[in-house]
Amino acid sequence: MLQWLRRLFQGPAKDATPQQAPRPEDDAPPVETPQSEVPAPPPADPMAPFLPFQIRPLEVADLNRLLGVFRDAIQVGSAGEYDQQQRDAWSRGQNYDSLISLLSEGETVVAQWDDELVGFAQRIADNINMVYVHPDSARVGIATLLYQHLEDSARVEGIPSLITHASLTALEFFRFMGFDSEGEEQADRGGVNLKRHLMRKSLGNFQ
Ligand SMILES: CC(C)(COP(=O)(O)OP(=O)(O)OC[C@H]1O[C@@H](n2cnc3c(N)ncnc32)[C@H](O)[C@@H]1OP(=O)(O)O)[C@@H](O)C(=O)NCCC(=O)NCCS
Repeated sequence: MLQWLRRLFQGPAKDATPQQAPRPEDDAPPVETPQSEVPAPPPADPMAPFLPFQIRPLEVADLNRLLGVFRDAIQVGSAGEYDQQQRDAWSRGQNYDSLISLLSEGETVVAQWDDELVGFAQRIADNINMVYVHPDSARVGIATLLYQHLEDSARVEGIPSLITHASLTALEFFRFMGFDSEGEEQADRGGVNLKRHLMRKSLGNFQ
């Protein structure tokens, strides 16, 4: 969380203005504020002016940038868990056309940071099919917000539980989101095997 806050304040939104004056010295005398300078009451969501990224539905114009996020997330973000051959096989698993075709299914949301597209996530029915965040924007909560949007819409649809086939890189992320592993799997990407986990989270929507 500290890292998240630090990152937020390193790169605030362009129109963000500081909301908090510097803390006065403890022994400094109280300063009278003239009525005309009394600050306006805070907005309903005090963090909103500081959020440098937004989560929104996928737009056609995003498609040519998604492939770069997908490939960098794998090649850089997963370097600790998969070797070069595995990462090449995984990232070659999608090209521009196949990604467009895949993302035409289900629901996809993207994360935009200023003008940059930095992440995306897709749900097809009860399956969280994709969550990819650019490594330059990792560990600031972007996947959390993307995932939360998809979980919320699944709840609205009355889906009782969500599954995912989590990469070893995403295992702890999905645990953090409340998923449990139901066991290890092997994904075949063009003849190359990659370990992953089948994971499930109950949403408690029992009908
Ligand atoms: C997995 C991935 C989507 C996480 O994205 P992210 O935006 O960095 O995740 P968040 O910042 O929302 O992380 C939330 C929490 O999840 C956990 N988490 C996320 N990534 C983690 C990692 N690499 N190792 C351990 N815990 C991790 C942490 O508890 C984190 O909270 P913290 O940063 O306060 O400790 C991203 O690393 C990624 O794109 N990886 C490569 C592609 C991939 O494997 N995608 C999933 C395919 S199934």
